[in-house]
Amino acid sequence: MKILVVGSGGREHALCWAISRSPLCQKLYCAPGNAGIESVAECLPIPADKIYDILAVCHLHAIDFIVIGPEVPLSLGLADELRSEGFSVFGPGKAAALIESSKGFMKDLCTCAGVPTAEYERFTDAAEAKAYAQAKGAPIVIKADGLAAGKGVTVARTLDEAFAAIDDALVKKVFGDSGESLVIEEFMEGEEVSFFALCDGEVALPFAAAQDHKTAYDGDRGPNTGGMGAYSPAPIVDAAMQDRIMREIIEPTVKTMREMGCPFTGVLFAGLMITKTGPKLIEYNVRFGDPETQVMIPRLKSDLLALLYATSKGMLDGIAIHWHDYAALCVVMAANGYPGEYKKGSVIRGLDEANAVPDAIVFHAGTDRDAQKHVVAAGGRVLGVTAVAPTIADAQNLAYQAVDQIDWPEGFCRRDIGWRAIAKMKAA
Ligand code: AMP
Ligand code: GLY
Repeated sequence: MKILVVGSGGREHALCWAISRSPLCQKLYCAPGNAGIESVAECLPIPADKIYDILAVCHLHAIDFIVIGPEVPLSLGLADELRSEGFSVFGPGKAAALIESSKGFMKDLCTCAGVPTAEYERFTDAAEAKAYAQAKGAPIVIKADGLAAGKGVTVARTLDEAFAAIDDALVKKVFGDSGESLVIEEFMEGEEVSFFALCDGEVALPFAAAQDHKTAYDGDRGPNTGGMGAYSPAPIVDAAMQDRIMREIIEPTVKTMREMGCPFTGVLFAGLMITKTGPKLIEYNVRFGDPETQVMIPRLKSDLLALLYATSKGMLDGIAIHWHDYAALCVVMAANGYPGEYKKGSVIRGLDEANAVPDAIVFHAGTDRDAQKHVVAAGGRVLGVTAVAPTIADAQNLAYQAVDQIDWPEGFCRRDIGWRAIAKMKAA
């Protein structure tokens, strides 16, 4: 097959890395890709959200199968456009993608499907929203309804913080259209985990679980980011917990979406809080996670391309997914200043040395090449330095050995990725 992967992050590098090794892959393209993806795919300079340009390039190169990485093209209907022209696609259409792009839709669906999630209400009026927050008390969570690049959520520890977040969204409109409507929800206490299931519209197959670190600095402090590191498997999701997640969360969702006329095909990413009373849904995403993908894919023994293709063709029934018996851990290196303002264009050295560390691989996220062909930083999250080993602690060791090979003064990383899982294992 000739395959096109859409996207340019660490997630897409990990997907391309695995797809390029599949015996089913004859030729791999990536749009737009990055300086690391170049080594496994031919990169085409087309932004992921230019859906008509992507459509044209699929015709031009006679692409057989398209894998869409990020949520934005999915929410713009790229999968529908491609399918309507006869292409096979991994990823949901626009209607099903609403489960990520509209928090209100996701919450209403949970009610219909009986999926456990935080108690909530939707608001468009600031005074009503404040009255509700006041009645419920802090801590309380305020969320912009639409996609806000991960910045639309405030976990308010005090009512003042909650009021400020309500004013930002509904009065100052800092999120534009995405914040015109708010979800205010109950604060859930517990441990967070990212759970992934492949869904072909009918059948849902558990894929894997991972945990990421959302805050910028060590000790889980600092501002929220897209994810500063991850590991898989997630010790908190044992076989019994996985069964529970499938039964109580994923399966009712897939069934309800089918009944609503928007069957879900692709990967359903459930952001979960494992509370004292069991798993509860924080949010759904309609794509693989980043950096979770960078730690799940290296553990996968089965052919990723065959799995994604079977998903797109409604043929998941009876398929078993096989995994290597080791753990993976990824340390994200970000540009100094991220998630606030940061500079682009600094040269990154030592990548070959990092890749030479046994069982380590550097996935590129925001990278590009300058005129001299040096790899340079081109985004906030820039590299995902990943290692596999028998335990999470060993994988952490190797990943930081590889990090230490990288010569990039303009970047930083957390030094404690995996701490919770490692502490838990030491205690056991
Ligand atoms: P979201 O964009 O919905 O994933 O929210 C971002 C982060 O806010 C999550 O990863 C959680 O850490 C936190 N969060 C969101 N909703 C809740 C909630 N209801 N209770 C506790 N924490 C939450
Ligand atoms: N790491 C969380 C996400 O991909 O949304």
